Order: sequence, then structure tokens, then C-alpha cells
Amino acid sequence: MSDKLMTINVKVWRQEGPNTPGRLVAYAIEGVNPHMSFLEMLDLLNEQLITRGELPIEFDNDCREGICGSCGVVVNGTPHGPQKGTAACQLHMRHYHDGDSLVIEPWRAAAFPVIRDLVVDRTALDRIIAAGGYVSVNTGAPQDANALPVEKQKSDDAFDFAACIGCGACIAACPNASAALFTGAKVSHLALLPQGEPERRIRVVRMVEQMEKEGFGDCSNHGECEAACPKQISISGIAIMRREYVKAVVSS
Ligand code: SF4
Ligand code: FES
Repeated sequence: MSDKLMTINVKVWRQEGPNTPGRLVAYAIEGVNPHMSFLEMLDLLNEQLITRGELPIEFDNDCREGICGSCGVVVNGTPHGPQKGTAACQLHMRHYHDGDSLVIEPWRAAAFPVIRDLVVDRTALDRIIAAGGYVSVNTGAPQDANALPVEKQKSDDAFDFAACIGCGACIAACPNASAALFTGAKVSHLALLPQGEPERRIRVVRMVEQMEKEGFGDCSNHGECEAACPKQISISGIAIMRREYVKAVVSS
């Protein structure tokens, strides 16, 4: 891989606040190292803006290791950019070429209002979790692991669903702005484990109701969510959520 520095031409969504109109602003970012991550390229642009006395671009980030779910921007129409199974913080500039043009936008969904520039309010996802994405357990000494056997396949599947980092890319990718993959991942993770059994029925009903209350659209099987997910959460989680919901409603 060449270490030659690149110039990347970007158009970035700038918006002062939730109630002000936004616009795309063009910048030429010089000195982009191919080893930089996408967010480090934005850091470089911000340093250049600050040096010129301009306001830096706001964007969410924290771990920069693909595990916290804080980062998230739409790059040329694709949430988290073009690399499959990769969060924006793990996307590296070696996948781009000198002179490339990128349009960088925030997540677009009515339930995710823009706070500023590329930062959106994703607390709707927290409220879905608060509605039921937990298990109520007594505190105290941990149970002996062998006292609660979990079938290997179920534990593997639960672990895969637990990998959801709550970034919201699935919602940004969906033409209906549906939160079905996120909610399905959380419901499936707990429905597959014995620890999730006591609240299994009430959990799915409450989480689905909260998802609707937040203004997310319904799933119509486009599959864009699975394609955009940096953790490659399987769309089968939506089917599990649907079955869990029907069983809960029928048995109530
Ligand atoms: S399902 Fe994937 S895209 Fe959606 S919030 Fe979880 S990790 Fe992000
Ligand atoms: S900054 Fe944590 S997942 Fe990207």
C-alpha cells in the first residue's frame, strides 16, 4: 500500500441546530494519510477548520474500535461507508484514492433529529431498551455455570445478536426508517437464553410498542438493515421478534 498523502474532496452536512435548515458544504482535505481512519480524516479537517478560524464539524465517536456504537455517518449514501461489517471508526482511508469525492451526511430518520452537523439524537433506542431490554435478577453470589445449561447453538445465536452495538445504521439504511433489526436483535438475544425467560412475553410487547411510539417505520423486508449493519446482525432476528410478539399477544 502506498503511503502517499491524498487530497479528499468532501461535502459535509452542516446544520447549526435541530430547528435550523442544513446544507452540504464542500471542503478539500489535504494531507490525508491512507493509514488514517475515516474519523481521523474528519479530525484532520477539523484541525484545518480551527486553524482558519471556522467552527469544527460535530460528529459522534467514542471507542474508535467498532464496539461502542457512537460513531455513524452516511458516506456516499451508505451508512458507515462501503466496507461490509465495518463501523465508520474502523473504515480506513486506504480504501479511497487521491482526488475521491465523498458526501458525508448524518443518519436520516424522523426518530433521529439532527442535534448539530453529523450528530443525531439516538435516545429513542435507549427508550426501547428501557422498555424491556433487560433481565431482572437477584443480586448475590453468581450461580454455578453448570446449574443453567444452555444449548450450544442457542448460546452462539444469542451471542451473535448480543453483538449489536446500537449504532442505528440499520434505521438509517431502511427506506421505512424501521428499528426492527435493532429491536429484533435485543429481543432475540434474551429470548434465546434461560435468563430472559421470566420476562419473555412482556418484554417483546413493551419493546415493540415503544418502537412504534418513537415513530420508527415498520419492516417491509427490504433487507437494507442487514447489509448496512457493522456487526452483521442477521435479519432472522426480525422473524424471531415477530414470532415472539405473536406468541405473547395470543397467550395474553
Ligand atoms: S442491528 Fe446493527 S446496524 Fe442496527 S443498531 Fe445494531 S449494530 Fe447497529
Ligand atoms: S466510535 Fe465506537 S463504534 Fe465507532
